[in-house]
Parts: sequence; structure tokens; C-alpha cells
Amino acid sequence: MEIEIEKFDNLGRGLGHKNNKVIFVEKALPGDIVEIDIIKEKKDYIEGKIKKLITSSKIRKEPICPYFFQCGGCTFLNTSLSESLDYKIRNINELLQKEGINYEVSQIIKSKKPLNYRNKITLKIVNKKIGYFASDSHDLVEIDYCYLCHETINDIIKDIPFLGIKNGLITIRVNYKDEILLHIESKDKLNNIDKLNELYKIAGIIYNDEVIFGSPFLIDKIGDYLFKISYDAFFQVNPFICEEIGNYIKEYTKNSHKIMDLYAGVGMLGIMASNNLKEVVGIEIVENAVKDALINKNFNHVENAKFFVADTKNILDKITNNYDTIILDPPRSGVNKAVIDKIKKEKIKNIIYISCHPQTLVRDLKLLYEQYEINNMLLFDMFAQTSHVESFCVLNLR
Ligand SMILES: C[S@@+](CC[C@H](N)C(=O)[O-])C[C@H]1O[C@@H](n2cnc3c(N)ncnc32)[C@H](O)[C@@H]1O
Repeated sequence: MEIEIEKFDNLGRGLGHKNNKVIFVEKALPGDIVEIDIIKEKKDYIEGKIKKLITSSKIRKEPICPYFFQCGGCTFLNTSLSESLDYKIRNINELLQKEGINYEVSQIIKSKKPLNYRNKITLKIVNKKIGYFASDSHDLVEIDYCYLCHETINDIIKDIPFLGIKNGLITIRVNYKDEILLHIESKDKLNNIDKLNELYKIAGIIYNDEVIFGSPFLIDKIGDYLFKISYDAFFQVNPFICEEIGNYIKEYTKNSHKIMDLYAGVGMLGIMASNNLKEVVGIEIVENAVKDALINKNFNHVENAKFFVADTKNILDKITNNYDTIILDPPRSGVNKAVIDKIKKEKIKNIIYISCHPQTLVRDLKLLYEQYEINNMLLFDMFAQTSHVESFCVLNLR
């Protein structure tokens, strides 16, 4: 089947039409004419991948990565960075417009490093082979280098086979000192841990939730801030963008007195927003992350911050207009509706909503929009070369 690609869809795939059906084609670009292999066919749409490139789009370039066409890790290595940035702005604006939200985003803050920026990767190991799954499948794409990852991660990927894992998952994290934290989930016995430690600065190895070497955490540095990050705690994957977000958080909380940081992780945003004149209360569901946050406030000489373990939807009574600013930085599923309703009921003055998922952000903004106006909204290219983006949205009570 031959398709002319008209535009990107909201997952960064090429979109075209044929026989009254919408066709989504992985890694196809607007302006391409492609023959496709069908992956999935439904009544009104088809998902496919390129079988043959008949006419190449003017914006197409040769991907730097040899695994690009098989691997599900990134989206835009076959075009320029500026095309990918334009796409991200266009995509959020289309979503806002569709939901009747009258705001146009015009700015995306670039990653200082558009490649080799990721401080964390999770790889599958299947029959001793290490790699990613191809997109929407469980077929392993064996890799020994990922252009999104920090060079130290790429160095150690090549030596992971030393450990003798036959099947499992490995998460590799690296910090500003090139120290490495490994979290291995597998039933296989590990070999050669000492050998790996001779070659790399291994901060710790966690094997199925048991610390078998070093410590169960890394300490990372973002600007002048230090953060302890336990192996099971969330931390943003792009340290260059974290520093930029820190500047915006400080700017937009400079007149706040009491801040509630919901979905606080290891406390990064709350701590950056604090200047010891303000009270910060952080809520986070992962216990180790909260323990980290309590240490992180001391690392960063923050006196007036408290962090609690809770599910945000279970602390609605604590969300009150004693707080003048709420920071929302939820997972991809967005903010629980009961939390949004309580924020609206309490008429909390300012909201800073940081989101890694435009669809759920726009869904939640629609609920807030009647009562809150968007004061500023911009994007951060946290996940450069992929279709994902981090949005930063400042809302003020109307
Ligand atoms: C996108 S991360 C943001 C973390 C932090 N703000 C940061 O920038 O590092 C979302 C965080 O929300 C936490 N989380 C997920 N569901 C939650 C819930 N229902 N209640 C509280 N925290 C939750 C996750 O564990 C994770 O740490």
C-alpha cells in the first residue's frame, strides 16, 4: 500500500489517508511517499511501518544511529532537531486548540546536549542479548550504544555481559561524577561484580531490591543543588533541562509564601523553590523518595521544608488555601480529578503544572481553565530526539 505522509500525528508518527482510513506510519515524515507493511488494521485506521521509501521528504536526513529504524527508543533522528522542536510546539498548540483553551505556546527551551543527555536507561536482557524492545512489540533490538544516553552509560553497556545475566532487566543510572548505580531484576546468579567495579566507578548494585554492592543510591548535582536519589525513586532524565526548570521554578515562586509540592519525588522542585523564607510541603507516594527528600533538604540547607509519604488523592483535606502556590508534577497519567476539584474549591492562587504528557496536561487544564488563566506556558526539550516533551504551565486564579 502506497501512502503520502501529510503530517505528524500526536505520537510523532507520519499520518496519511487511504480508502477513507487514517494511516499512521512509524518513522515516516511529512512529504514522504512510502509503501508500508501493515502492523495493525482497524475499521477506520491502519498502523504500519515503512517497507519502501518511494519519495523522500525534504526534511529527511540519514539517522546517526544504526538501530534507529528497528528501535522504539527515539523518533526524530531522521530529521533535524529544529523540525522536532517545531513539531512539539505545534502538537501542544493543536491539543490546546482542540480543547478550546485559548493559549498559544511559542517557546521551547533546548537541551544543552541534544544527544547523550540521558542519565538513566532501562534495558532488557533476553537470552544474554541486551537491548530495547522494538516499538509496540516484544522483539529485542540488540544494542551496544544509545545516542540518547550519557557516554558513561554507553561505556558500561558493552561490559554488562560480564555479569552473566541470561534474562532480566537492568537499569543503569549515572551522576555528575560518572558514578554508576545498577538495578538488576533477574533470577540469574551474577558474576564478575568486582571486575566491573575495577573498570567503572560503581556506586551501588541492587539485585532484585537487595543491595549487593555499595549503596542503594546516587548523589547527583543540578546547578548548585545536591540530590540523593534512591534506586527506586524518580529523577528527571535530563540534568541540563532540570537546571533550566529550576530557574523557572524560582522565578515563578519568588512571591509565594507557602508552597505545596505535589508529586514531589526526591524534593527537587520544592527545594529549588524554597529560599528559607517560605514553607514548602511536599507529598510523594514512594517512601524512599521521601526519605531522600528529607536528606536533600539538609544537603541544600533548606530549613523550612517538610516531605510526607502519601497518595495525593488521600490528602485532600491538607490541600487548603493556606498555600498560595501548588506545584503539580504528576506522572504521565496526570493529576487525580479529586485533587483538581479540591484545588479549585480552595481557590488556591497560583498553580505551576509541570507535565511530561501533553494529552493529560491539556485534559487537566480544561478542568482548571474556567477558574484559572494561563499566565505563561513553555516547553522544555527534556526528551530530545523523541516525541515526548516537558511542559511548564503557570496558572493564576482569575
Ligand atoms: C514526574 S515525577 C516528578 C517528581 C519530582 N517533582 C521531580 O521533578 O523530580 C512524578 C512523581 O509522582 C509520584 N507519584 C505518582 N503517583 C503519585 C500519587 N498518586 N501520589 C503522590 N505521588 C505520586 C512518583 O513516584 C514520582 O516521584
